[in-house]
Amino acid sequence: MAKKPQDLRSARWFAPDDLRSMGHRSRAMQMGWTADDWEGKPVIAIINTWSDLSPCHHHLRDRAEWVKRGILQAGGTPVEMPVHSFSEQFLKPTSMLYRNMGALEVEETLRSHPIDGAVLMGGCDKSTPALIMGAVSMNLPFIFMPAGAMLRGNYAGEKLGSGTDVWKYWDERRAGNITKEQWDGVQGGIARSYGTCMTMGTASTMMSIADGWGLTLPGASSIPAPDAGHKRMAAACGRRAVDMVWEDLTPDKIMTWESTRNAVTVAMATGCSTNAIIHLIAMARRAGVDLTLDHLDEIGHSTPVLANIRPSGKDYLMEDFFYAGGLPALMKELGDKLDLSVMTVNGKTVGDNIAEAVNFNDDVIRPLSNPVYHEGSLAVLKGNLAPDGAVIKPAAMDPKFQKHRGPAIVADSYAQLKEIINDENYPMTPDHVLVLRNAGPQGGPGMPEWGMIPMPKALLKDGHRDMVRLSDARMSGTSYGACILHVAPEAYIGGPLALIETGDIIEMDIPNRSLRVDLTEAQLDARRAKWQAPAPRYERGYGQMFSQHVEQADKGCDFDFLRTDFGAPVPEPEIN
Ligand code: FES
Repeated sequence: MAKKPQDLRSARWFAPDDLRSMGHRSRAMQMGWTADDWEGKPVIAIINTWSDLSPCHHHLRDRAEWVKRGILQAGGTPVEMPVHSFSEQFLKPTSMLYRNMGALEVEETLRSHPIDGAVLMGGCDKSTPALIMGAVSMNLPFIFMPAGAMLRGNYAGEKLGSGTDVWKYWDERRAGNITKEQWDGVQGGIARSYGTCMTMGTASTMMSIADGWGLTLPGASSIPAPDAGHKRMAAACGRRAVDMVWEDLTPDKIMTWESTRNAVTVAMATGCSTNAIIHLIAMARRAGVDLTLDHLDEIGHSTPVLANIRPSGKDYLMEDFFYAGGLPALMKELGDKLDLSVMTVNGKTVGDNIAEAVNFNDDVIRPLSNPVYHEGSLAVLKGNLAPDGAVIKPAAMDPKFQKHRGPAIVADSYAQLKEIINDENYPMTPDHVLVLRNAGPQGGPGMPEWGMIPMPKALLKDGHRDMVRLSDARMSGTSYGACILHVAPEAYIGGPLALIETGDIIEMDIPNRSLRVDLTEAQLDARRAKWQAPAPRYERGYGQMFSQHVEQADKGCDFDFLRTDFGAPVPEPEIN
């Protein structure tokens, strides 16, 4: 339904002939505005996650100017509003601790100001879900503008991929196979421009998911950050956001069960980061779609990996993906695995958007007949060790671990784990299962990316490069290996992971989606009776609030009080 100027949300602040609105108008004039800026024009917020400590978003200050240009071209009024920058590399103890804080900030920034619509600028890992979760809860028309991936890395003529090659070269350094000079060369060559990690890590996965959900302009997620097309896309986002306000194209009209299924299918076909599981569930639940781990596993079963991008793929990076046709070409290859009738932010259906897409390189974007991996990249495991589920990425591990049985080596903390993995003489075999616990949403706290446990020196020296590792932590989307993650419930709150001991036999069966410890219920109950809860991680501040309200991984780690089904809708703010 088309909106009229008097229906604009911002008109509640600027239009009435009363004392309070006179104050709003006079303060707008203090900034140089005139009535031309507020009368009958949608006010579009440019939600900017730029900061001097966010290398992935270093260009967003400039891109905001391009978004403004587009908003002005379409007859809107742009207002740039800074929010938390979600810098994955610099935030400690882990950026996941701040995703929900950022989502809350976005929602309340939009709610409390005279805003009619928004362009959300982000891309570095948690920024995409945080921005979308907040904007969905506010339900104003918005468009997501992906930051885009950085250029390919390069060292000594070799292509380097973010994260993935860091882990690889770190193992080689610890094994004594490369020099300090070579290591420094990798350090200088692996991040050559602004933009997000250019492997199919969490950032590229989440931007692709937003695209597949219909929340970006078609194909926007694949444009490299330094490409001139990225500026043109930014301006187009600005223009489109204004039109979306007049069309009243709110996210509830886009984020349906059908479009959510599309987003999950796209995620699986990209060979997505394990982190995507948590964020997909959290975003969907904000939109009132009850997406579960079982849905994700079912869609994963029937969706092959088509993007031959590291770490699931072998040879290529996001820049190659863009040149091959990007996400529209991948979605076209998926064909009727997608619902082509669903609406997207550009006012057209998915089917319309990908009708003209072309796959220019079928080694980078594989057809369904020649996938990189025959199933989706992720599998959900359940059993007496993870009653509410755990996640593994079979597409990025040694296939010999599809079925595995081995004795556990248990570490209660990362410090204890480091002692084990750095001890060249620690008694272990490649069949052992290395366990890290108390690293989940509450125990971490914030579920740090410790789940790709570095290979122990005791095995590295014998040439081993993969083993089964198990934790309630997450791992970076650029990581790889036979790492079982997100075990729920986590050990810190007394999940079964808290009860196992070194020497217990762990059984993983990926084809049958099973994860068990070889103990009877009676044995587990006896240990549970003796288990003592660890001390609280925080006594005050945001951390304490996080600990009290964060949900488990299988629920998306949102705050319980931010769920869509939590209580009455938040009212619009009082103006007078
Ligand atoms: Fe920002 Fe990887 S550190 S996307």
